[in-house]
Amino acid sequence: MSQTLGEMLPSIKSAPPGPHSLELASRLNVVESRNVTWLSENFPIFWDRALGSNVIDVDGNVYVDLTSAFGVAFAGHSHPSITLAIEKQGKVLVHGMGDVHPTASKVKIMEEMGKLSPWKEARTVLASSGAEAMEIALKTAQMYSGKTGLIAFRGAYHGLTLGSLSVTDREKFRDPFVGRLTEHTSFVNFPKTGEEAESIITEIASIVRRKKSTAEPVGAIVIEPIQGRGGVQIPPEGFLQTLSDFSQSAGLLLIFDEIFSGLGRSGVIFETERAGVVPDLVCLGKSLGGGMPLSACIGSREVMAGWPETDGEAIHTSTFLGHPLSCAAGISFLNVLKSENLVLQSVQKGQYLLDSLQASLRAGQHVFQVRGRGLLIGIELHNQKNHSVKSMGSHVSQLALKEGLIVLPAGIDGEVVELAPPATITREQMDFAVKCLSKILLESQL
Ligand SMILES: Cc1ncc(COP(=O)(O)O)c(C=O)c1O
Repeated sequence: MSQTLGEMLPSIKSAPPGPHSLELASRLNVVESRNVTWLSENFPIFWDRALGSNVIDVDGNVYVDLTSAFGVAFAGHSHPSITLAIEKQGKVLVHGMGDVHPTASKVKIMEEMGKLSPWKEARTVLASSGAEAMEIALKTAQMYSGKTGLIAFRGAYHGLTLGSLSVTDREKFRDPFVGRLTEHTSFVNFPKTGEEAESIITEIASIVRRKKSTAEPVGAIVIEPIQGRGGVQIPPEGFLQTLSDFSQSAGLLLIFDEIFSGLGRSGVIFETERAGVVPDLVCLGKSLGGGMPLSACIGSREVMAGWPETDGEAIHTSTFLGHPLSCAAGISFLNVLKSENLVLQSVQKGQYLLDSLQASLRAGQHVFQVRGRGLLIGIELHNQKNHSVKSMGSHVSQLALKEGLIVLPAGIDGEVVELAPPATITREQMDFAVKCLSKILLESQL
């Protein structure tokens, strides 16, 4: 058993949440607004340190993290090269003036992203969060096409700011603000079978026709090539290609939200590569900043030329655009991605984890399906009557935490357990995770 922090198996000294976590929770309860951190007897633990695939909480418990903290720590938590890059940058310049007096690191990271992108001449706008990258994509699409109508997919998650929320499909997030969300988005099903895929393209074509002579003609289609928070939904073979052919023939822009799936998480740098399509815009975030807040909307030179030349004041920018610490960390992450061959690790380890889970959970009465690509895996849960059960993923997450395993629920009804571990996860840690989840899913009364 490895004793090296980062590669360790869980070590639980006091049942989570331990006394220090509970004490912090009671203090948090009187300072943070409602509806941010969910506090209960069983949840959360307060993190103190993290390295590789291990997290240590304030009570000294060691966990294996199968979330990469929302998919961010793809290179492992606190990767030594990335933390060194942050440290070095922090000593000389923490914050600059991104869109006025930028830094060399802003140039460098966009050069590196351009080399990875599917375009010969890529153009990028940087931002801090995934939602903000989506805002930029939606604004770019409107600038380029002059059209405000959008097509998005049921179950999609693109962020919670008002623009990104307009293409996110989750009643809970939308309902309180529905009056402020634009009427411009038409949602269609995210296909699960080839048959569904065909009828969805027909439906999109009919929406585009219907809206053509209205005030909101459709200008763009927004899709996660693999839905992450929607429950790790993978479209049938060929769907993205057909969607791309359709958008080209209809003169629509195709926006790929690769904030979760991108940069190796799903076993390829971009899903565009696997699908053999070149979309018009790609959004990145999460792992891009190596743990620092960094996101981007990248497009071809032609589409990004939808933005006019600047007259000295950018139409879309933000205080932290091109933040030096985030750019330095991002450059280092992109180096690690190559030097440690994280994409190959994601393919190989993802296949091992998927195969082990499928073999071990096959007999499970609660397990409807285990699916995934690379290190993005979902376990969809059903009850004895074979119906999906609201919040079952959340229940499993709480039980797993007690065993020292950090996982998150996903899916519109929280019916999926989502696994997105760091690419540095060891075989021993994966074997532990499979054993632990099998015990919960096969033996517990859920
Ligand atoms: C596919 C996708 N798009 C956008 C977002 C929003 O990113 P952020 O939470 O950084 O705003 C997320 C977050 O989970 C995501 O998974």
